Amino acid sequence: TRQQQSDQRLKGKKVLISAGPTREPIDPVRFFTNHSSGKMGYSLAEAAENLGAEVHLVSGPVDVTAPRNVQLYSVETAEEMYKKMTELYDDMDIVIKAAAVADYRPLQTFDQKLKKQAGALQIEMERTKDILQALGERKKQQYLVGFAAETNDIRKYGLGKLEKKNLDAIIINDVSQEGIGFHSNDNEVTIITKHGKEKTIPKLPKKEIAKEILQLIDEEVRKKFN
Ligand code: CTP
Ligand code: CA
Repeated sequence: TRQQQSDQRLKGKKVLISAGPTREPIDPVRFFTNHSSGKMGYSLAEAAENLGAEVHLVSGPVDVTAPRNVQLYSVETAEEMYKKMTELYDDMDIVIKAAAVADYRPLQTFDQKLKKQAGALQIEMERTKDILQALGERKKQQYLVGFAAETNDIRKYGLGKLEKKNLDAIIINDVSQEGIGFHSNDNEVTIITKHGKEKTIPKLPKKEIAKEILQLIDEEVRKKFN
């Protein structure tokens, strides 16, 4: 309806969102990545923009186009995403980390294409920085939201991440189920705030999920500052 379209409840707010996978190079032609499509993060960016927010979107390589009026920063590696997110973080009001960041990257990146040899290839991997954890450690006014992609014990692991990363809320995604999550247009999530408020949003298109998530975040932010 016209009334919903003119709902500008996030006017004046700066929102930072990360989306998509990261890509960790092995050599000039190969990389490690994951199945993230970027759709959830891009839907959140669009929903925040529709509510009048100033939106900054830091994205790994994806096939979706950025919504209009959203400031897009394209990155490839976890390290590049870390740099851009920390650079933008300080004057943000709401930060949502929807990206599927690689946890490991090759210890060594080769300048020239690796040639095949007889026998097996071993690639040693090292940890990437945990971007969300770093943001949690230096959190000030930001309302900080993370995602948890889980296949089992989803509540337990989700709550663990909420606490460990000093988040204000966690959005838990069951990625073991067919038809939601990775690659899908639909999703089903449970949001838990650090105050124990909990809401499950049943299976819906990611664009609708995004609206509900932002509505809940907005309510929580208003409580926090009132
Ligand atoms: N995340 C991040 N930087 C990383 C890894 C994860 O910022 N290097 C963020 C993700 O963007 C997400 C949250 O942390 O918002 C949780 O990601 P997830 O992969 O579910 O959890 P991890 O903490 O990486 O733990 P694990 O993969 O072992 O479950
Ligand atoms: Ca991970």
